[in-house]
Amino acid sequence: MTANCILERVSETKSTNDDLLIRWRAGELIDPVARIAHKQTAGKGRAGRTWLANPEDSLCFSLAFPFKRRPAELSGLSLLVGLAVIAGISQACDLSEAALHAAGLHLKWPNDLLLNNNKLGGILIEGGQAKADDPTWMIIGVGINLRNPEAIEANLDAGVKASSLSQITKTLPDVEYLWLKLIASLENHLTEFDLHGFKSCKDSWMKWDAYQNKPVCISGTGKDPIYGIAKGVDETGALLLQQDNKTIAIHAGDVSLRIQS
Ligand code: BTN
Repeated sequence: MTANCILERVSETKSTNDDLLIRWRAGELIDPVARIAHKQTAGKGRAGRTWLANPEDSLCFSLAFPFKRRPAELSGLSLLVGLAVIAGISQACDLSEAALHAAGLHLKWPNDLLLNNNKLGGILIEGGQAKADDPTWMIIGVGINLRNPEAIEANLDAGVKASSLSQITKTLPDVEYLWLKLIASLENHLTEFDLHGFKSCKDSWMKWDAYQNKPVCISGTGKDPIYGIAKGVDETGALLLQQDNKTIAIHAGDVSLRIQS
């Protein structure tokens, strides 16, 4: 399936997420828009971090998509986007999802792509509903490392390891082709999600879970860290954390997950 949304390509911008957020806030969005930038000068990551990407080595784009669901009904969206990105990579690289899994591709809750535990890509979702009865516009930003992970790593926090798509396939797809496959996959997945929610994708997500049964630590701004064993996700996409004699559900917000050292 080809992309149905408006496609925009720019050589340089501050942040494709911000570009679309500004237009959503101004009430200018009508149909879905996908916007790709060769270079972002102020790319944004989760939790207020900066997303630094070398233009030649990365794919950076955002998709503005209107949901019929209200914001409170979008739980699990970031996990679903991870599944959509994997499906798009599979199609663009002409590799089965099983082959990608075997190569070490996994998802880290709530929305990181990992390749053999090193960061391959990230997802930043922003937006909301301006007023009752309006669609809920979500701006879904995706950054994927294509090649040269060492150079990307130099931009990351100390200790954060990067990986790239070139480590999975020797013949990297053309960036435009990869982008179109990702957009088409996202449109399919998001349309299904708007109808049925995350519930039916839970088992699928669990197959890609990088931290299943691992001891993990959850940290968030201004909150004490929470420790436990990661037990996958529930039907809303919340992370299940086993602690001594109880299991608690952690909902995605500005929290980070890492393996206990
Ligand atoms: C993260 O892992 O912290 C999320 C990174 C998201 C980066 C993408 S690149 C395209 C879009 N525009 C941005 O400013 N950020 C997202």
